[in-house]
Amino acid sequence: MNIASSGLRLLSCTAALALSLSAAAQAKDPNAEFEKFRAEMEESNPAELFEIKGEELWKARRGPKNVSLAESCDLGQGMGKVEAAYVKMPRYFADADAVMDAERRIVWCMVEKQGFKFDDIAKKPFQGGNDNNAPEITNLVTYVASGSRNMKFDIPLGDPKVRDAFETGKATAAYRAGPYDFSCNTCHGVDGKRIRMQNLPNLATPEGAIKGVQGWPGYRMTGGVMLTSQWRMNDCFRQQRFPEPKYASQAVTNLLTYMSGNSNGQIYKGPGIKR
Ligand code: HEC
Repeated sequence: MNIASSGLRLLSCTAALALSLSAAAQAKDPNAEFEKFRAEMEESNPAELFEIKGEELWKARRGPKNVSLAESCDLGQGMGKVEAAYVKMPRYFADADAVMDAERRIVWCMVEKQGFKFDDIAKKPFQGGNDNNAPEITNLVTYVASGSRNMKFDIPLGDPKVRDAFETGKATAAYRAGPYDFSCNTCHGVDGKRIRMQNLPNLATPEGAIKGVQGWPGYRMTGGVMLTSQWRMNDCFRQQRFPEPKYASQAVTNLLTYMSGNSNGQIYKGPGIKR
């Protein structure tokens, strides 16, 4: 046998193997396949690019008042401290007299400390499919979230104001209205529910709640965009055929307090990657 023909045989063998492999892959649970893919992708998670941009923004002196967030924004862990801040928000901030989630708190700092205008930030707070760049606020949230990688959720539910936000969030999740009489729980209140191949986590259980908050902020491969949990909430209000809440509203903070509070004790893996 000459080298050329053995090479050919090897080639056709490989082709046959590839065929049978892809047939086997198709027979498998597509969710399991995606989980495997995600695990591989997380080794080189595109979210890191947004973290780096966010870190630069956090440290830069900006805005009409020319101060940095690093020297003026307290996320609850001390001035400018990002470490462990994300897994401990929403929390109560006395200076704002409000319970705030991470995104809302950063927006508050940008407005109060740096002098940016809320309406300018709220004009386009989320990245769209046609945008090349994520808004500054998304980069900042991603950076702040990265400071809690592999830490346990620890929402201070013992604080009566936080507890209040939690209870209101819980009631909001159960509130049915709109043209289809849906609540969040219609889609997210039972185990094992799916819509168009997506597993919908049961937000009332610790295992489900952590799934709901785990991947956000996350890099969404559909569209190649970086999105925060504020976006996720707005998009679900839309799915529910409710009017979308005002950007960085208390209603969204309440829902995030409910879900993050239910995740207490579970490990946050850091900015994620979504299908
Ligand atoms: C009509 C059904 C429906 C309703 C009602 C609904 N959602 Fe969703 N939700 C979905 C779908 C579908 C997805 C997954 C979308 C995707 O992965 O692209 C999702 C995703 C989510 C996620 C992210 C889950 C993950 O795996 O990352 C959270 C958190 C969430 N919803 C919360 C809510 C909240 C809170 C409400 C109420 C304000 C709500 N949803 C109302 C259908 C719904």
